[in-house]
Amino acid sequence: MAQIVGAITTSHVPAIGRAIDKGLQDDPYWKPFFDGFPPVRKWLAEVRPDVAVMVYNDHGLNFFLDRMPTFALGAAPEYRNADEGWGIPTVPPFKGDPALSWHMIESLVAEEFDLVTCQEMLVDHAFTIPMALLWPDLRWPVRTVPVVVNTVQSPLPSASRCYKLGEAIGRAIESWDAEERVVVIGTGGLSHQLDGQRAGFINKAFDRRFMDSLIDDPKWATQYSTLDLVELVGTQGVELLMWLVARGALNGKVRRLHSNYHIPISNTASALMLMENRG
Ligand code: DHB
Ligand code: FE
Repeated sequence: MAQIVGAITTSHVPAIGRAIDKGLQDDPYWKPFFDGFPPVRKWLAEVRPDVAVMVYNDHGLNFFLDRMPTFALGAAPEYRNADEGWGIPTVPPFKGDPALSWHMIESLVAEEFDLVTCQEMLVDHAFTIPMALLWPDLRWPVRTVPVVVNTVQSPLPSASRCYKLGEAIGRAIESWDAEERVVVIGTGGLSHQLDGQRAGFINKAFDRRFMDSLIDDPKWATQYSTLDLVELVGTQGVELLMWLVARGALNGKVRRLHSNYHIPISNTASALMLMENRG
């Protein structure tokens, strides 16, 4: 049976892509951010996962406001990045894993998560930037399965629902009859607000509490409604729902192997966490 080796959760600010492209990793502004990643890369090189299940929010590239699934899952043989109007440099295509995708779809729908299934799918910065941070040579050693959660257009799924989706994803992966190692990657957050009067809003105390909660008390954040979360972490900070999905997929005791928190990158409290799944 497949094994979930752990979860990696990280911010996905598009400006990171520009910094990578311009080689600014040692620039004083960027260094404290990029310095978070080598321990995670080392772990990945040791654990060598075969597949990455990428939990992220599409920002209007593959799904626009006219058709907005609450949850969607990719089942394509390949995923490509597309320019989102920011002049983002494109990266090599990502291999899919249709066998795992369809197994997950079967399992999740059987568990009453009625998601949209996508046999074609473009992936945006929330998918590509974490991949480029984790595998900076851009020679992706993993196949990928995209899982998209709506955090763009109200109403959003609740924190509680997202955690349950994560648990169901965990059961789906672990019931896959294949000797494969799977890493779950959740991208987004932490606190940030890009628009309105509170643009630039960051809540360090909440972010820290949230990160700690994922280790020992992972349902802590499910006490909050999505409107509570918007107030606490900003309109885009609700992307922390992706962290809840990823954490939910880890079935038992979890050990924090590494974390980093740095304010700000662009308008965002950038955070990174590596959690080992102890089964
Ligand atoms: C920023 C953060 C995001 O999560 C995003 O999707 C786009 C921009 C930012 O801080 O600039
Ligand atoms: Fe985002």
